[in-house]
Amino acid sequence: MLFKTALLASTLALLSNAQSSVSNDPPTPSGSVKQHVIQVGDVSGALKFYPETVRASVGDMVQFQFYPQNHSLAQSSFDKPCEPLAQANGSTPFWSGFMPVSASSTRMPVFSIVVRDDRPMWFYCATGKHCQGGMAGVINPPASGDRTIAAYKSAASSVALTGVPTGAAGSGGSNSSTGTGTGSGSGSGSVPTTTPAPGAASELRVWKGWAVAVCGIVGLLVV
Ligand SMILES: *[C@@H]1O[C@H](CO)[C@@H](O)[C@H](O)[C@H]1NC(C)=O
Ligand SMILES: *[C@@H]1O[C@H](CO)[C@@H](O)[C@H](O)[C@H]1NC(C)=O
Ligand SMILES: *[C@@H]1O[C@H](CO)[C@@H](O)[C@H](O)[C@H]1NC(C)=O
Repeated sequence: MLFKTALLASTLALLSNAQSSVSNDPPTPSGSVKQHVIQVGDVSGALKFYPETVRASVGDMVQFQFYPQNHSLAQSSFDKPCEPLAQANGSTPFWSGFMPVSASSTRMPVFSIVVRDDRPMWFYCATGKHCQGGMAGVINPPASGDRTIAAYKSAASSVALTGVPTGAAGSGGSNSSTGTGTGSGSGSGSVPTTTPAPGAASELRVWKGWAVAVCGIVGLLVV
Protein backbone atom coordinates (compact mmCIF):
# COMPACT_ATOMS: atom_id res chain seq x y z
CA MET A 1 0.00 0.00 0.00
CA LEU A 2 2.80 2.31 0.96
CA PHE A 3 4.47 1.36 -2.26
CA LYS A 4 1.33 2.08 -4.26
CA THR A 5 0.93 5.48 -2.66
CA ALA A 6 4.51 6.37 -3.48
CA LEU A 7 4.02 5.15 -7.01
CA LEU A 8 0.86 7.22 -7.39
CA ALA A 9 2.56 10.28 -5.98
CA SER A 10 5.48 9.97 -8.36
CA THR A 11 3.12 9.39 -11.27
CA LEU A 12 1.10 12.49 -10.43
CA ALA A 13 4.26 14.51 -9.92
CA LEU A 14 5.45 13.49 -13.34
CA LEU A 15 2.10 14.23 -14.91
CA SER A 16 1.99 17.73 -13.49
CA ASN A 17 5.60 18.17 -14.49
CA ALA A 18 4.72 17.20 -18.05
CA GLN A 19 1.75 19.55 -18.05
CA SER A 20 3.69 22.50 -16.75
CA SER A 21 6.20 22.02 -19.54
CA VAL A 22 3.31 22.11 -21.98
CA SER A 23 1.96 25.37 -20.67
CA ASN A 24 5.36 27.08 -20.95
CA ASP A 25 5.95 26.02 -24.50
CA PRO A 26 4.27 26.39 -27.87
CA PRO A 27 1.26 24.14 -28.24
CA THR A 28 2.07 20.46 -28.69
CA PRO A 29 0.53 18.67 -31.66
CA SER A 30 -1.90 16.77 -29.53
CA GLY A 31 -2.97 16.51 -25.93
CA SER A 32 -2.32 12.83 -25.49
CA VAL A 33 0.14 10.19 -26.55
CA LYS A 34 -1.12 6.94 -27.94
CA GLN A 35 0.71 3.94 -26.61
CA HIS A 36 0.96 0.58 -28.33
CA VAL A 37 2.05 -2.46 -26.35
CA ILE A 38 4.08 -5.32 -27.76
CA GLN A 39 4.72 -8.41 -25.66
CA VAL A 40 8.22 -9.81 -26.01
CA GLY A 41 7.65 -13.54 -25.67
CA ASP A 42 4.98 -14.95 -23.42
CA VAL A 43 4.59 -17.10 -20.32
CA SER A 44 5.04 -20.29 -22.32
CA GLY A 45 8.42 -19.17 -23.67
CA ALA A 46 7.24 -18.79 -27.28
CA LEU A 47 9.79 -17.12 -29.57
CA LYS A 48 7.44 -14.45 -30.80
CA PHE A 49 6.39 -10.82 -30.42
CA TYR A 50 2.68 -10.22 -29.81
CA PRO A 51 1.59 -8.57 -32.02
CA GLU A 52 4.47 -8.77 -34.47
CA THR A 53 3.11 -5.97 -36.65
CA VAL A 54 2.01 -2.59 -35.34
CA ARG A 55 0.73 0.48 -37.16
CA ALA A 56 1.65 3.62 -35.29
CA SER A 57 1.47 7.32 -36.06
CA VAL A 58 4.36 9.72 -35.66
CA GLY A 59 4.48 10.71 -32.00
CA ASP A 60 2.98 7.46 -30.75
CA MET A 61 4.84 5.36 -28.21
CA VAL A 62 5.49 1.66 -28.45
CA GLN A 63 6.13 -0.14 -25.19
CA PHE A 64 7.80 -3.54 -25.25
CA GLN A 65 7.05 -5.76 -22.25
CA PHE A 66 9.57 -8.50 -21.54
CA TYR A 67 8.31 -11.92 -20.55
CA PRO A 68 10.53 -14.68 -19.17
CA GLN A 69 13.20 -15.91 -20.08
CA ASN A 70 15.99 -13.75 -21.45
CA HIS A 71 14.86 -11.75 -24.44
CA SER A 72 16.02 -8.50 -25.98
CA LEU A 73 14.97 -6.00 -28.57
CA ALA A 74 17.20 -4.75 -31.37
CA GLN A 75 16.41 -2.72 -34.46
CA SER A 76 17.51 -4.03 -37.84
CA SER A 77 16.93 -3.33 -41.51
CA PHE A 78 14.68 -5.47 -43.67
CA ASP A 79 17.61 -6.45 -45.85
CA LYS A 80 19.74 -7.77 -43.00
CA PRO A 81 17.53 -9.67 -40.59
CA CYS A 82 18.97 -10.57 -37.18
CA GLU A 83 21.64 -7.89 -37.60
CA PRO A 84 21.68 -4.58 -35.78
CA LEU A 85 20.85 -1.50 -37.80
CA ALA A 86 23.83 0.74 -38.37
CA GLN A 87 23.56 4.22 -36.93
CA ALA A 88 22.16 6.40 -39.68
CA ASN A 89 20.91 9.92 -40.23
CA GLY A 90 21.75 10.96 -36.71
CA SER A 91 19.21 8.65 -35.12
CA THR A 92 20.07 5.95 -32.63
CA PRO A 93 18.79 2.49 -33.49
CA PHE A 94 17.05 0.98 -30.51
CA TRP A 95 18.65 -1.68 -28.37
CA SER A 96 17.15 -2.72 -25.07
CA GLY A 97 19.97 -4.91 -23.85
CA PHE A 98 19.27 -8.41 -22.55
CA MET A 99 16.33 -8.61 -20.21
CA PRO A 100 16.56 -11.75 -18.11
CA VAL A 101 13.28 -12.34 -16.30
CA SER A 102 12.75 -15.37 -14.11
CA ALA A 103 9.51 -17.29 -14.37
CA SER A 104 8.63 -16.38 -10.78
CA SER A 105 9.45 -12.68 -11.15
CA THR A 106 6.81 -10.10 -10.30
CA ARG A 107 8.84 -7.48 -12.11
CA MET A 108 8.39 -6.97 -15.82
CA PRO A 109 11.00 -4.85 -17.56
CA VAL A 110 9.68 -2.61 -20.27
CA PHE A 111 11.41 -0.64 -22.98
CA SER A 112 9.64 2.20 -24.77
CA ILE A 113 10.34 3.99 -27.98
CA VAL A 114 8.76 7.00 -29.61
CA VAL A 115 7.83 6.73 -33.28
CA ARG A 116 9.69 9.63 -34.93
CA ASP A 117 8.76 9.09 -38.56
CA ASP A 118 6.62 6.77 -40.63
CA ARG A 119 9.40 4.63 -42.05
CA PRO A 120 9.26 0.89 -41.28
CA MET A 121 11.15 -0.15 -38.14
CA TRP A 122 12.13 -3.82 -38.22
CA PHE A 123 13.21 -5.46 -35.00
CA TYR A 124 14.29 -8.81 -33.58
CA CYS A 125 15.40 -10.54 -30.40
CA ALA A 126 19.20 -10.73 -30.30
CA THR A 127 19.33 -13.61 -27.83
CA GLY A 128 20.80 -16.89 -29.11
CA LYS A 129 18.81 -18.14 -32.10
CA HIS A 130 15.56 -16.46 -31.16
CA CYS A 131 15.55 -14.36 -34.33
CA GLN A 132 16.01 -17.45 -36.50
CA GLY A 133 13.15 -19.04 -34.58
CA GLY A 134 10.76 -16.30 -35.64
CA MET A 135 11.22 -13.70 -32.94
CA ALA A 136 10.93 -10.61 -35.11
CA GLY A 137 8.48 -7.84 -35.83
CA VAL A 138 7.92 -4.52 -37.52
CA ILE A 139 6.40 -1.12 -36.82
CA ASN A 140 4.76 0.40 -39.90
CA PRO A 141 5.64 -2.17 -42.59
CA PRO A 142 5.15 -1.05 -46.20
CA ALA A 143 1.45 -1.12 -47.09
CA SER A 144 2.12 -3.20 -50.17
CA GLY A 145 4.91 -5.12 -51.82
CA ASP A 146 6.97 -8.07 -50.70
CA ARG A 147 8.66 -6.52 -47.67
CA THR A 148 6.47 -8.31 -45.18
CA ILE A 149 7.11 -9.70 -41.74
CA ALA A 150 6.65 -13.19 -43.22
CA ALA A 151 9.42 -12.47 -45.73
CA TYR A 152 11.66 -11.09 -42.97
CA LYS A 153 11.14 -14.16 -40.79
CA SER A 154 11.71 -16.47 -43.72
CA ALA A 155 15.06 -14.79 -44.48
CA ALA A 156 15.89 -14.71 -40.76
CA SER A 157 15.49 -18.46 -40.43
CA SER A 158 18.67 -19.08 -42.41
CA VAL A 159 20.88 -16.42 -40.82
CA ALA A 160 23.96 -18.15 -39.42
CA LEU A 161 24.85 -15.82 -36.60
CA THR A 162 22.66 -13.36 -34.71
CA GLY A 163 24.15 -9.89 -34.44
CA VAL A 164 24.24 -8.30 -31.01
CA PRO A 165 24.32 -4.50 -31.03
CA THR A 166 27.54 -3.04 -29.66
CA GLY A 167 25.93 0.18 -28.46
CA ALA A 168 24.91 0.78 -24.87
CA ALA A 169 21.97 -1.23 -23.63
CA GLY A 170 18.97 1.01 -23.33
CA SER A 171 19.85 3.24 -26.27
CA GLY A 172 17.24 4.56 -28.65
CA GLY A 173 14.48 4.32 -26.08
CA SER A 174 13.84 4.30 -22.37
CA ASN A 175 14.13 1.55 -19.81
CA SER A 176 11.68 1.04 -17.09
CA SER A 177 10.12 -1.75 -15.19
CA THR A 178 6.68 -2.39 -13.89
CA GLY A 179 6.74 -3.38 -10.27
CA THR A 180 9.62 -1.21 -9.12
CA GLY A 181 7.72 2.04 -9.41
CA THR A 182 10.66 4.07 -10.61
CA GLY A 183 10.66 4.44 -14.34
CA SER A 184 14.09 5.79 -15.15
CA GLY A 185 13.06 7.58 -18.31
CA SER A 186 16.63 7.63 -19.51
CA GLY A 187 17.86 6.87 -22.97
CA SER A 188 18.16 9.21 -25.86
CA GLY A 189 15.29 8.20 -28.12
CA SER A 190 15.80 8.54 -31.84
CA VAL A 191 16.39 12.22 -31.40
CA PRO A 192 18.57 13.79 -34.07
CA THR A 193 22.05 14.58 -32.79
CA THR A 194 22.01 17.76 -34.85
CA THR A 195 20.86 20.97 -33.16
CA PRO A 196 17.19 20.57 -32.38
CA ALA A 197 14.67 23.13 -33.54
CA PRO A 198 13.50 25.49 -30.78
CA GLY A 199 10.94 23.70 -28.71
CA ALA A 200 12.16 20.26 -29.68
CA ALA A 201 13.95 19.64 -26.41
CA SER A 202 10.97 20.64 -24.32
CA GLU A 203 8.78 18.49 -26.49
CA LEU A 204 11.06 15.58 -25.75
CA ARG A 205 10.79 16.35 -22.06
CA VAL A 206 7.03 16.19 -22.36
CA TRP A 207 7.19 12.87 -24.16
CA LYS A 208 9.47 11.51 -21.47
CA GLY A 209 7.23 12.80 -18.74
CA TRP A 210 4.31 11.06 -20.31
CA ALA A 211 6.31 7.93 -20.94
CA VAL A 212 7.26 7.64 -17.31
CA ALA A 213 3.78 8.60 -16.16
CA VAL A 214 2.24 5.94 -18.36
CA CYS A 215 4.69 3.39 -17.02
CA GLY A 216 3.77 4.45 -13.51
CA ILE A 217 0.10 3.95 -14.22
CA VAL A 218 0.76 0.57 -15.76
CA GLY A 219 2.81 -0.22 -12.66
CA LEU A 220 -0.14 0.69 -10.46
CA LEU A 221 -2.43 -1.60 -12.39
CA VAL A 222 0.00 -4.46 -12.19
CA VAL A 223 0.79 -4.16 -8.46
C1 LIG B 1 18.54 8.65 -44.44
O1 LIG B 1 17.76 9.72 -44.95
C2 LIG B 1 17.57 9.69 -46.35
C3 LIG B 1 16.81 10.94 -46.75
O2 LIG B 1 15.67 11.11 -45.97
C4 LIG B 1 16.84 8.41 -46.74
O3 LIG B 1 16.67 8.35 -48.13
C5 LIG B 1 17.64 7.21 -46.26
O4 LIG B 1 16.93 6.03 -46.53
C6 LIG B 1 17.90 7.33 -44.78
N1 LIG B 1 18.75 6.22 -44.35
C7 LIG B 1 18.37 5.38 -43.39
C8 LIG B 1 19.31 4.28 -43.12
O5 LIG B 1 17.31 5.49 -42.78
C1 LIG C 1 21.01 -13.44 -21.44
O1 LIG C 1 21.46 -13.76 -22.74
C2 LIG C 1 22.67 -13.14 -23.13
C3 LIG C 1 22.99 -13.53 -24.55
O2 LIG C 1 22.96 -14.90 -24.73
C4 LIG C 1 23.78 -13.55 -22.17
O3 LIG C 1 24.97 -12.85 -22.51
C5 LIG C 1 23.38 -13.20 -20.75
O4 LIG C 1 24.36 -13.67 -19.86
C6 LIG C 1 22.06 -13.84 -20.42
N1 LIG C 1 21.66 -13.43 -19.08
C7 LIG C 1 21.26 -14.31 -18.17
C8 LIG C 1 20.96 -13.76 -16.81
O5 LIG C 1 21.10 -15.50 -18.43
C1 LIG D 1 18.55 -0.72 -19.52
O1 LIG D 1 18.36 -2.09 -19.26
C2 LIG D 1 19.47 -2.89 -19.64
C3 LIG D 1 19.09 -4.34 -19.46
O2 LIG D 1 18.63 -4.58 -18.16
C4 LIG D 1 20.68 -2.49 -18.81
O3 LIG D 1 21.77 -3.28 -19.18
C5 LIG D 1 20.98 -1.04 -19.06
O4 LIG D 1 22.05 -0.62 -18.25
C6 LIG D 1 19.75 -0.17 -18.78
N1 LIG D 1 20.05 1.18 -19.21
C7 LIG D 1 19.72 2.24 -18.49
C8 LIG D 1 20.09 3.56 -19.09
O5 LIG D 1 19.13 2.17 -17.42
